[in-house]
Amino acid sequence: MMKAGGGSPPYMSKRQMQFFTAVILVLVFGALLTALNVYELHRLTKEHWATEHTHAEGAALAEALGENHYARPVAWVRGNNKGSGYLTHVTNVLHRLGYELAEDREDWDFLWSHNYPFRELKQTMVKLKPHQRVNHFPGSGFITNKVNLAISGLPLIPRAFRMPAEKAELLAHAKKNPEMMFVQKSNNHRGIKIEKLDALDLGAEGSFVQEFVHNPLLVDGYKFDIGVYTIVTSIEPLRVYIFEGDVLFRFCPKKYHPFDPEVQDKYVVGDDYLPTWKVPSLAPYYNDFGFGMKSSFDAWLRAQDKNPNLVWDSVRNAIRSVFYDKESALVQATSHYPSSKNFFEMMRFDFVIDDDLKVYLMEANMSPNLSSAHFKQNRLLYEQVVYNVLSLVGIGRAVHSPNLATRSTDEDEMQAAVKDIVVFADHCSVNCQGGSNACSRIECQLCLPCLSEDQKANFLQAYLEHQRRGGCRRVVPQPILHNKAHSAADMEALTPENTLMTEWFRGMCLNDNSFCS
Ligand SMILES: *[C@@H]1O[C@H](CO)[C@@H](O)[C@H](O)[C@H]1NC(C)=O
Repeated sequence: MMKAGGGSPPYMSKRQMQFFTAVILVLVFGALLTALNVYELHRLTKEHWATEHTHAEGAALAEALGENHYARPVAWVRGNNKGSGYLTHVTNVLHRLGYELAEDREDWDFLWSHNYPFRELKQTMVKLKPHQRVNHFPGSGFITNKVNLAISGLPLIPRAFRMPAEKAELLAHAKKNPEMMFVQKSNNHRGIKIEKLDALDLGAEGSFVQEFVHNPLLVDGYKFDIGVYTIVTSIEPLRVYIFEGDVLFRFCPKKYHPFDPEVQDKYVVGDDYLPTWKVPSLAPYYNDFGFGMKSSFDAWLRAQDKNPNLVWDSVRNAIRSVFYDKESALVQATSHYPSSKNFFEMMRFDFVIDDDLKVYLMEANMSPNLSSAHFKQNRLLYEQVVYNVLSLVGIGRAVHSPNLATRSTDEDEMQAAVKDIVVFADHCSVNCQGGSNACSRIECQLCLPCLSEDQKANFLQAYLEHQRRGGCRRVVPQPILHNKAHSAADMEALTPENTLMTEWFRGMCLNDNSFCS
């Protein structure tokens, strides 16, 4: 029931009204005071910055408070049919690293392109800003193109003959080795069936015929291949790393023996491969004792009284030899772009091992498949690969910033300063006095006064990669510890840039033995 009242609200007495008014007044007064305080604080702060902003401390804070403190660097993940999920692990990692994912912006910091971007985005690629990074190198096809790689004649690649040009050589080779089997491949086509020579189409333009590794190492009777994630961070000088956190092992779904060329499941790895955790001898290591794929295989190999280091040394040698072989082509292709520093690339090198533990490089894949749609267990491998690759190249990093551009010298030096890249200082101080005269002598070239700005920038970058390498390990330049002999012949084959880079790592290894491996 409502009680009718005078001018005041029906549910408030006059006394209550007075009290209410007083409370409002107090609140308003309080708010005014607060506003005044805030204003005063703001004024004082401004004054403080006005008088102190030259101090280093002030500069750093101003840098942090600068426009867009909360803005995030922008990554553009590009690929056909992205909805099918094969780039999910890439976007997951970028998101966790603090990137904003966008497709239609000009101001991106990092482009992850599934396809080779240098034709489709040519206009963008020739106008990259210094801080923009792209996950491919111009000319990477010199390595990832199947024909180019197969016919390069490197010792760890099964011998291949271009069709139809080298038909006569192939026939002669086959005659000399009558027991040998061959596979025919082409760039677009994964037709990997073993055929008798007379069943092959030796006139097929753009294809090649390759020796088949007929005595593969088998685990529980299954043939397998191994995929090693490989990262090239610089081409001149050359720096290449592999991800050692794990390696992709894929087994054929059917046992190799009795061998039958008509049954491809015996010798070709397809989408429906047998994973490590289903191979009886590897399953206990993987499922029960927690090893990854590589460690499970290594443990199994040791149990056969064989030495896994032989395999991995050959793998590193093969990768190293491919990059040295193709380096000048990469340098040439990149010379059409303003700077090679915009680019890096992650590839997957696929190997087969024979029963003598000899390693054969089968192919190198641009944009290896990172989809775990088929095997959920591969999520961990793929996300660790992407995370480690992006960390190595400085796209994932501990410093928070709104983009990848350099904000200040202080910020850069905090991470890598000139003192961090100085090598052979004791030798230099004794033997390389005398300014530019001394710099003409080879043994003085790495002394600080002799370094060009460009060389310093390269070494700073190499230093940062070393700090950020996570599960990645360098294969080029060859680490001192893996190096049975940095023989004079090896060194002579290197370009001057690569010689200097190799020597710099040797100097760093003397300063800090983490650089030796
Ligand atoms: C990538 O791998 C997934 C899962 O194994 C598979 O479904 C898909 O077909 C593969 N994509 C390509 C392009 O090979």
